[in-house]
Amino acid sequence: MRFGKQDRLFVLTGAGISAESGLATFRGSGGLWNGHRVEEVATPEAWEANPELVWRFYSMRRRDATDAQPNAAHRALAAIEEQMGDRFYLCTQNVDDLHERGGSRRLHHMHGELFQSRCVSCERPFSDRKFYESAAALPACETCGEPVRPHIVWFGEIPLDMEGIYRQLDRATVLLVIGTSGSVYPAAGFVHIANQRGIRTMYIGPEEPQNAEAFDEILSGTATEIVPQLLYTFRSFQSRCQNAARDY
Ligand code: APR
Repeated sequence: MRFGKQDRLFVLTGAGISAESGLATFRGSGGLWNGHRVEEVATPEAWEANPELVWRFYSMRRRDATDAQPNAAHRALAAIEEQMGDRFYLCTQNVDDLHERGGSRRLHHMHGELFQSRCVSCERPFSDRKFYESAAALPACETCGEPVRPHIVWFGEIPLDMEGIYRQLDRATVLLVIGTSGSVYPAAGFVHIANQRGIRTMYIGPEEPQNAEAFDEILSGTATEIVPQLLYTFRSFQSRCQNAARDY
């Protein structure tokens, strides 16, 4: 798929873009944590029943993300953003910080951020890189003493700033989706909204997502194989446009 400077690109990423940085996806092989499905540790009910288990899960994910490095796909998206400026918007379902460490700036974490926590009562998110791995270590709010939870959108909770996301989707001319199984809504429904608006849609990943039939184009391969090629296509399209303008 070709896209150029006049396009407005909306990118949606999922766990697959961080897979080649060594972070496990949720539903692929290795997608279990100590025998728990993600749904068993990423819900308000799990938090109510066993906050220690939930904090051990997110502490482990903090450790893994701290050790991981952005890969060529993260960096290529940042380079495309650099060229497109405000015509680029990146919405990620990932809670790791590899996009920002790869250079992305116009970025929204719709499912929250791994390196933020918030008090269940005050609700104000704050930066937090600590590990809480035992009942004795469970954090409490310094202001009101209530429990502190991960700043993560769990199953059954509403993703962050859906209004802003839909505003961006409304302006986009291309939807590019990378490395997500298409099984978790509302993100899995973005392609249907794009179709209603008649904009171009493309998916990148090694397997077809569950909503594959909704995409105009599926590019089969890993994120680091394909996303840098898009940057290359974008750059050569740009330079052809510049040459054409000069020759004119
Ligand atoms: N490059 C691109 N895609 C890949 C790669 C890779 N190297 N490796 C795996 N994938 C793809 C898989 O084929 C799969 O379709 O990444 C997808 C990962 O799917 P999931 O594990 O379901 O992750 P995701 O879709 O991001 O999950 C959505 O569910 O668990 C919740 O809130 C959590 O944000 C998460 C949401």
